[in-house]
Amino acid sequence: SPEQLQAYLATAVALAKEVGPVFKDGFWRTGQFATGNDFAAIDKMGNEADCVTAVDCHIEKVIFSRLREIYPEHKFVGEETTAEIGNKYKVTDDPTWVVDPVDGTNNFVHHFPYTGISIGLTINKEPVVGVIYLPVLDELYTAAKGLGAQLNGQTLPIFSFPTLTTPTSLSQCSMVSEHGSLRSESCIKSRLDTFKRLLLERDQGGASIRNLRFTGSAASDLALVAKGVAEIYWETGPHAWDYAAGVIIVLESGGAVFDGSGWWGSSIPENEKSPQPLNIWNRKILAVRHMPDLIGKPGSGCQIQKHLAAAV
Ligand code: IPD
Repeated sequence: SPEQLQAYLATAVALAKEVGPVFKDGFWRTGQFATGNDFAAIDKMGNEADCVTAVDCHIEKVIFSRLREIYPEHKFVGEETTAEIGNKYKVTDDPTWVVDPVDGTNNFVHHFPYTGISIGLTINKEPVVGVIYLPVLDELYTAAKGLGAQLNGQTLPIFSFPTLTTPTSLSQCSMVSEHGSLRSESCIKSRLDTFKRLLLERDQGGASIRNLRFTGSAASDLALVAKGVAEIYWETGPHAWDYAAGVIIVLESGGAVFDGSGWWGSSIPENEKSPQPLNIWNRKILAVRHMPDLIGKPGSGCQIQKHLAAAV
């Protein structure tokens, strides 16, 4: 029910705010995380591009222990408890909290402010509640299914399009993406090929995107789409904890998402909507602002479908 979703959202907001000061301590290296090994960035499984700090583990522990007290019957998937132990998680229809305690750990370690806490809740495997808190920027993004999306209490999106109307071409779109932490030759090559195509292609009815940005945090990227700063976010390789919360925030801000097999969003015509549940578990995500001219006709060769959905 809407009341139940509102209550879940309130819990997630309270938790994000509770751990906010610890997050900032870690970012500025003051307080509890001022010195010593506590703060060292530890590579995950020998991958220097994928790291974890004591702050990630601390925050995840606090969030999960609080949630377990309040909702003992719920399930929990977290970046540090799941990824670190190499646990395979089983996705069920039960209410499941999907948490990244520090999304953009690389940014966190390098003092780049696009980093934050991402708390999502799925029911029947689909995200229904999302909170992204970027403590350094003091931005709290919130959404629940059917209840809209907000930034610090203000309805999303905040910004209108840089053109006077909704874009009709990719050339009017700003895009955010990531190169991710998987650094195999084939992986990097396929991403770079896609970026190259998006930046260069102008022929055959195609168009180049206006610009390409990387924040280093999937959650921040989705927040920027919901806010109206970026029109498109695309990435292959992130995990559900990186984007569970962001996906519902984008959807509730009026945007749409493509998960590799279908589209969801209020601007997608009924007959074009995916009949499947939205899949946030297969590490592929394309999210766009409300742009009916670009995303309203997925079957009819629209530009986003042609240029990006194929890559997803
Ligand atoms: C990472 C960030 C990054 C994305 C990676 C994620 P983490 O999350 O969101 O932008 O490219 O796919 O794993 O590891 O910093 O929480």
